[in-house]
Amino acid sequence: MTTLPTVLITGASTGIGAIYAERFAQRGHDLVLVARDHGRLQTLANRLRSEHNVAIDVLQADLTQLGDLARVEARLRDDASIGILINNAGAAQAGSFIEQSTDSIAHLVALNTTALVRLASAIAPRLAKSGGGAIINIGSVVGLAPEFGMSVYGATKAFVLFLSQGLSLELSPQGVYVQAVLPAATRTEIWDRAGIDINTLSDIMEAGDLVDAALVGFDRREPVTIPPLQEGERWNALQAARQGLLSQIKQSVVAQRYQAPV
Ligand SMILES: NC(=O)c1ccc[n+]([C@@H]2O[C@H](COP(=O)([O-])OP(=O)(O)OC[C@H]3O[C@@H](n4cnc5c(N)ncnc54)[C@H](OP(=O)(O)O)[C@@H]3O)[C@@H](O)[C@H]2O)c1
Repeated sequence: MTTLPTVLITGASTGIGAIYAERFAQRGHDLVLVARDHGRLQTLANRLRSEHNVAIDVLQADLTQLGDLARVEARLRDDASIGILINNAGAAQAGSFIEQSTDSIAHLVALNTTALVRLASAIAPRLAKSGGGAIINIGSVVGLAPEFGMSVYGATKAFVLFLSQGLSLELSPQGVYVQAVLPAATRTEIWDRAGIDINTLSDIMEAGDLVDAALVGFDRREPVTIPPLQEGERWNALQAARQGLLSQIKQSVVAQRYQAPV
């Protein structure tokens, strides 16, 4: 019998991350749970250990603190049992760009992008060397839509999507599966934490439904999974249009519309 890889999940103390923890424990994987709230992580770990008979480690870390982040990176680098990283920890922010403070913006960017890419970078060389494993990055449909009015949050999630697509191209030939998951509004604490009243949202997905759908995409080895997108062909069309642009980009020739009049 082959041993299932251990799954390291960031932001596992509640919301989408806690449900991922539950689902992978149900599948028989050992877990490493990462977040700031040690008490909540321990409570979840105790329950999942007793319900699913799996080994669970708790790693308390604030991923915006480089020292804490370095401990998680070291674990990903050195612990050969970890074969799946779920880069889930993230936060949102209320208000317009002008209303948000420079420090709060930097904090959001540090959590949603710097921590995520550092953790991916810590595990990817080992996974590539072993010829297997997976990295799941939680983005958002907001990363597709500047029109949603969450510019910084959306920009961090556009980063997550781009990075995931790039890493998928780089790492899939080496046997490493990279998945971007793009939820839309989902019922978790993220709204409350950001100071946004969840009742002002017209449509909201349940977190369990979101994770179950994301796992359907995971089992299919889909590079990008968008559970709320009803017609998958629209995503394929968007990618085809984007790729169509590439053949139009000619490095040495200025496009005619920019040529200075003589
Ligand atoms: N819910 C939605 O509507 C929605 C939609 C699209 C995308 N997403 C994305 O889904 C992911 C999970 O969000 P969620 O909705 O489940 O949010 P959530 O319920 O607020 O959970 C966020 C998780 O991240 C952890 N976290 C926050 N700051 C952290 C820090 N500095 N260091 C370490 N861990 C930290 C939190 O734990 P501690 O507080 O214990 O640290 C918690 O476990 C995020 O990347 C989010 O952007 C959510």
